[in-house]
Amino acid sequence: KRVVAFISGGGSNMLALAKAAADPDFPAEIVAVFSDKAGAGGLARAEALGIATRTFLRKDFTSKDAHEAAIIEALDALSPDLICLAGYMRLISGAFVSRYEGRILNIHPSLLPLFPGLNTHQRAIDAGMRIAGCTVHFVTEGMDEGPAIVQAAVPVLPDDTAGTLAARVLTVEHRSYPLALRLVAEGKVRMEGGKAVATGDL
Ligand code: GRF
Repeated sequence: KRVVAFISGGGSNMLALAKAAADPDFPAEIVAVFSDKAGAGGLARAEALGIATRTFLRKDFTSKDAHEAAIIEALDALSPDLICLAGYMRLISGAFVSRYEGRILNIHPSLLPLFPGLNTHQRAIDAGMRIAGCTVHFVTEGMDEGPAIVQAAVPVLPDDTAGTLAARVLTVEHRSYPLALRLVAEGKVRMEGGKAVATGDL
């Protein structure tokens, strides 16, 4: 399966996917990395692995729609089977989601449906949570509300800061995303009727 990864920053999740995909037995390859931020650290990491990169700066376009149209045009030209949002900090429109229905994955640094949106680690600490974690989910029109594919939990320790918790969650993100991508690329999990459905023997 052909995958295009979307980043906005360091791209550690994209890197985890690229490393997993480097295994010839992995059922997907990262054919390109798209970024909405110039100089995103993940761009250099992708290029170091020989992965094609494209940058689409919002300021280069007159509207959100024009920005997205350029991204979709470049996407369609690559004929990806799947899109992996990996630290991509921009909401994609309903039209975009519909165009790639059931084929867009995202990783969110909380155990959804708890803590959708931003600052998830500080919110978990403030709420007195004793576990935190990440969710890889299919992307639907609403933010952070698509059906979960893989989740992983980590303990919240008494002296945790948002930074120490984020670092602990990242370690399980980097295992969860490749697992989720494998399951979807192998056709073992797909989105059906708005739910993530296991098809074969997991
Ligand atoms: C990660 O916590 C990820 O869950 C969130 O953005 C953070 C940075 O991701 N979406 P990355 O290092 O850019 O992959």
